[in-house]
Amino acid sequence: MKILAIESSCDETAAAVVEDGRKVISSVVNTQIAEHKLYGGVVPEIAGRRHIENIVSVVEETLNKAQITLNDVDAIAVTAAPGLIGAVLVGVNFAKGLAFSSNKPLIPVHHIRGHIAANYIAHTELKPPFLCLVVSGGHSNIIEVKDYTDFNIIGKTRDDAAGEAFDKAARAMGFPYPGGVNLDKTAVTATPGKYKLPRPSVENSPYDFSFSGLKTFVINLIHNSKQKGVDVDIPALCADFQNTVTEILCSRVELAAKEYGYNTIAVAGGVAANSGLRKGLEELCLKHGYKLYAPPLSLCGDNAAMIGSQAYYEYLKGKIADMSLNGKAGMPINQDF
Ligand code: KG4
Ligand code: ZN
Repeated sequence: MKILAIESSCDETAAAVVEDGRKVISSVVNTQIAEHKLYGGVVPEIAGRRHIENIVSVVEETLNKAQITLNDVDAIAVTAAPGLIGAVLVGVNFAKGLAFSSNKPLIPVHHIRGHIAANYIAHTELKPPFLCLVVSGGHSNIIEVKDYTDFNIIGKTRDDAAGEAFDKAARAMGFPYPGGVNLDKTAVTATPGKYKLPRPSVENSPYDFSFSGLKTFVINLIHNSKQKGVDVDIPALCADFQNTVTEILCSRVELAAKEYGYNTIAVAGGVAANSGLRKGLEELCLKHGYKLYAPPLSLCGDNAAMIGSQAYYEYLKGKIADMSLNGKAGMPINQDF
């Protein structure tokens, strides 16, 4: 079964053709990063406008690369939540138009379910159940993937998502948007240990995390040093920040895996590209004899291949939308459209 998938929930206009949930026939990602960089972050209205301008050519390019036409596609899938609503609606409306005009099934996909499914593309042997750490610019969760469409959130961030904390700390350090990847590149050039950063925990919620205190500590450290005319060792601070976030996330994953009895761990989302986190999870899994699954870097950030993968499993469960489908800015992962 060939699914044409569309993703437009943030600052990437993307489309892909995916066969039977696991095989990517073609995938195109048109990123708007260069434009949002000018403003230090994603400007929602600009994102929506660029999606409107680019979506036709991105879908055309995807079909051309797959050497097929819309007639050869069996269903249309789209990210319908969560995301910047003006951005989500562009993809949803376009997918509805395609499904309506071609009389093909329309499959709505939850963006975070899609991030998890990036692992199905990269690791064809991976099947639920497993435990997944999802860390992106907007979300940070430890999720029990009980089945392809059955999820239970064990842990969550109480404030900033991991990617948001990376980006804001990186911005204070002077890195351009999106800061996470730049902070990562600098972190690997130094050794952690120079700066003692806070590792906040959430009372009575051992699987939850909180990053805003850590982020604010770094921002204050930089501002105070500037006021006093003291130099900040940016590479060392990057190394300590990355190390601290990694330790916070890995300690919660370790506890959740033990308490819930999982020995298969996956990681997903934009921050799954972080070298420190990947190393931390590898060490954790080696220590306990767990199997770790991580997507290749090309499938960590937003793309439509992951949406096409998840859509296949939604379709198998009969989760098809009618023409009243609407996009949603926020929606829990365990809720259906
Ligand atoms: O999943 P994603 O592409 O978009 C959302 O759904 O939010 O995640 C984007 C986030 C951004 O915050 C970006 O800075 C972060 O992932 N990110 C990284 C790295 N690469 C991307 N954070 C830390 N280290 C990286 N190497
Ligand atoms: Zn995402």
